[in-house]
This record gives sequence, structure tokens and C-alpha cells, in this order.
Amino acid sequence: VSLKPYNTFGLDVNTRYWVEINQEDDLQTLLQLTEFVNTPKLILGGGSNVLLRQHFNGLVVKMNIQGIDVIREDDTHIYVKVGAGVIWHDLVKFCVNQGYAGLENLSLIPGTVGAAPMQNIGAYGVEIEQVFESLTAIDVASGKQRIFNHADCAFGYRESVFKRKLKDQYIITSVTFQLDKTPTFHTRYGAIQETLTEMGISDDTLTIKAISDAVIHIRQSKLPDPNEIGNAGSFFKNPEIPKPQFDLLKSTYPTLPGYPISDDIVKVPAGWLIEQTGWKGYRLGDAGVHTKQALVLVNYGNATGDEILTLAHQVQKSVYDKFNIEITPEVNVV
Ligand code: EPU
Repeated sequence: VSLKPYNTFGLDVNTRYWVEINQEDDLQTLLQLTEFVNTPKLILGGGSNVLLRQHFNGLVVKMNIQGIDVIREDDTHIYVKVGAGVIWHDLVKFCVNQGYAGLENLSLIPGTVGAAPMQNIGAYGVEIEQVFESLTAIDVASGKQRIFNHADCAFGYRESVFKRKLKDQYIITSVTFQLDKTPTFHTRYGAIQETLTEMGISDDTLTIKAISDAVIHIRQSKLPDPNEIGNAGSFFKNPEIPKPQFDLLKSTYPTLPGYPISDDIVKVPAGWLIEQTGWKGYRLGDAGVHTKQALVLVNYGNATGDEILTLAHQVQKSVYDKFNIEITPEVNVV
């Protein structure tokens, strides 16, 4: 089976075995089949955060579990349980339409619900952990279901226990979100306020729908649509550097943006660093650095995973040579 339609980079690699999972107990059955116990497995949601380097000599498990169900509510919250295979933005649209607040800043992020907690997806001032209640996952070794609450997930910036200590040990099958009946608006980040003003929205007319529309507008103007140009969103994480190093750099590069994480640590946008090294808009063959957002590496058609990875290494090296800052991939290299 070719994985080209199943990864947003559009990389044309094959897998030896392929299975689509539509319900949790089918996954449990699959994991108990002796013939696959020792087969390497790759779990795919929307394939929007992977770089596939070569043919996969194992079993790709495509998660298709559907369902968006309101399971309970209290005075202030609505709890929605969502199947891992639901398209993330379909969930956001559902919540915005129902008036369930919390996901609107996360509009239009590619991928599926099951993949979202893995890397604690975030955008425009909100991370999934802020609306996360719990998830269910299947233990690959035993086939048993386990419930993870917020603390169990050890969320960090684009991090969770599923990328660290429990890497490859669990397959997420559903996520339950705690959404607000009364919205708290997050409009401070980046261009949101500006875009709302352009849209003619004031504090009095602000709604979660307006925020969702603003975020969609901003994303569409900067980020390449994977249906048109292959990409996996931000290729690198934004590095966090010691404050003294930031201050020193700032004296040389006064336009350097920075977001304080604590008294001693500042997060700097990798996109800015990459742009300064001159890579923005670079293209060699079909691999390139996006013209409008330097943090995004793109496949214009027939690039290979290794061509993109080589480009990534060159970009990392330039940033290190110029700024003495290491940037690390955010995408999962398989
Ligand atoms: N910048 C540049 N040049 C560029 C790109 C960015 O100078 O080519 C500067 C911008 O001017 C701005 C700053 O960098 O001052 C931040 O840019 P932006 O708001 O576009 O966000 P980002 O830090 O580059 C992060 C996330 C995105 C998320 C946006 C919005 C990471 C790794 N990326 O990007 O997430 O959509 O913020 O919140 O944290 C993703 O993870 O795939 C992703 C797209």
C-alpha cells in the first residue's frame, strides 16, 4: 500500500501491511494476533506530523474511530468524548457551532483528534492541555484499555508522555474534552486582535465563531494547504534559550522576538531565526522552505523524505552557526 495519500508531506513510500481501525475492540483483537506481535507498527492519524524516510517494513494502523458525543455536563462545562479518527477541525467546527468554547483558537490544525494530545497541539495562545479532561488508550503489549487523566499525560510544549516515557507503548482511541459554557476569549496572541478589528469585530460583538474565523484567516494566509503543497506544519519547535543569551542576541539583532517562559528562559521563534539565515523561500528540486513561513518545510511534488531531512539538517546547521542555538524537529521522523 502506498502511504502517499496518508501523509500530508505527500511522501511516496509503501508499507508492507495496512489496516484501518474503526472501533476499539478491533484494535484489541489486532494486537492479540500472534503473527503481528513482533511486527513494527506505525500508528497514523491524519499523517500530518510525520516525515516518512523509507518504505515501512511493518504494519501501518490507520485510526478511523469516529464519534463526537456529549457525555455529561455541569453548571459550567460540557464534556465531549471524541473518537481518535475524527478530523480535528471537524471537532472544532462542531464545538463552535454548538457554542462549546475552548477549541476555537485551534481551528484548522491538520490531523486527527487521537494525534492531538501526543504533541499537545497548540496555536494562537491555546494548547490542547487547557481543554483536556482524559483519554482512553490501548496498551500495545497487553491489548488492555487504560484511562489517562491530565497529570498522567505529562503535557509540555509540543510534548507529552506519549512522545517520551511511553513512546510507542499506547494507541490513543478517544479523547474527552472539557469545554466551557461561557467562553474565555484568547485574543492576545499574534495577529488575532488585528484580524478581528479588520473583520469589524469589537469586544462587544466578539464570539468564539469570530475567533475561529480570524484564526482560519491567519493560518490560510501564512501556512501552505497540504492539499496543494506537501508539508507537516512547523517542522521545528521554537527553541527556549537562557535569558542572558537572549539579551546578548537582542543587542546584536534588535528585532529578535522573544516570549518569556520564566525569569531565566525565553522562547524565540525558529521561523525568525531561519529567515535571518536566508533559507526562507529556498528550493532545491522539490524540497523547500515555505515562502511565507520559514518554520515550515515543504514538498513541491516528488521530494523524498531524505531530501527534506537533508534540507532540515542544513537549516539547523545555519541557525546554529549564526546564533549558537540548536533547533530540533517537531515532526516525527520515521
Ligand atoms: N517569523 C519570522 N519569519 C518567519 C516566520 C515567523 O520572522 O518566516 C516571526 C513572526 O514574525 C513572529 C514570530 O516569528 O514574530 C512567530 O511567528 P508565528 O506567529 O507564525 O508563529 P510560530 O512561532 O512560527 C507557532 C507554532 C505554530 C502555530 C503558531 C501560531 C510551533 C513550533 N509552531 O509558530 O504551530 O500555528 O505558533 O500560534 O510552536 C505547528 O505546530 O505545526 C504549527 C503550525
